[in-house]
Amino acid sequence: MIASILALVNPGERVLIFEPFYENYGPDTVIAGAEPVIVPLAPDRDWSFDPAQLREVIEKTAEEGGIRALILNSPNNPTGKVFSLEELGQIAQLAQEFDFYVITDEIYEHIVYDGHRHHPIALLPGMRDRTVTISALSKTFSVTGWRLGYIIAPHDLTNAIRKMHDFLTVGAAAPLQEAAAVALRVDASYYEHLAEEYERRRKRLLTTLQRVGFRTWTPYGAYYILADISDLTDETDVQFIRRLIADYGVAAVPGSSFYRKAAAGSRIVRFAFCKTLELLDEVDERLAKLS
Ligand SMILES: Cc1ncc(COP(=O)(O)O)c(C=O)c1O
Repeated sequence: MIASILALVNPGERVLIFEPFYENYGPDTVIAGAEPVIVPLAPDRDWSFDPAQLREVIEKTAEEGGIRALILNSPNNPTGKVFSLEELGQIAQLAQEFDFYVITDEIYEHIVYDGHRHHPIALLPGMRDRTVTISALSKTFSVTGWRLGYIIAPHDLTNAIRKMHDFLTVGAAAPLQEAAAVALRVDASYYEHLAEEYERRRKRLLTTLQRVGFRTWTPYGAYYILADISDLTDETDVQFIRRLIADYGVAAVPGSSFYRKAAAGSRIVRFAFCKTLELLDEVDERLAKLS
């Protein structure tokens, strides 16, 4: 992601990011000397964006050069949102009208639930030449520490991105790349099994959180659950999580870390269910004592 931004975005240009966002996109943009432009996803409308607002924000920047790239993370961390074909079409239309790149993060592409489908925006008409598709092995093959990712983009773009990647990292560890080549040859049933496995865990953790009194959003993809703490406590997200860790041995991520202004996320926390069912049972027992 950072290699793509550094390669395609010049200092002083703008990068559009939907909020809440995976933490790295803001800093990646700032490191490139560019400015993040934030568009909210609405919690009360299934984390959808307002297409009129998206257009307005893009139009507003047009006089100063417009936005250079939009970062699209679907399935989304932290919300679990899976952008619909209609939403992708709206973004694709704007990308072509206002001439910007779409840099994707599709790392959860194989983890979707309830009949939702992941659609790569690069496949939409007119998008192939302006999309940098990014994915990785971490989530699909449960090797989150390996930091092995890949991009698919038009040749002139990968030329710049590959140089930037070389200057940043030289390259990913060769033995890990060899293992990745083996992993990528598994047959299609592996991917179906993966989503089914996570679906069981999603159900387990959702049941626990709802019973304890969290207000939850059901994720349609990825393996996180956002939960509102308002009915449980007046503490901030950080205070609440510190207590959760110290008193119950259960950890979550403060919602504020997914927002530019901490206050916007201070009533929510993010739980992860990429854990064994036994561990999730243990979480259930521990959170039953929450007071
Ligand atoms: C949306 C998203 N992108 C990227 C990453 C990290 O990717 P990698 O493991 O390839 O470094 C994560 C990990 O949490 C993530 O949630």
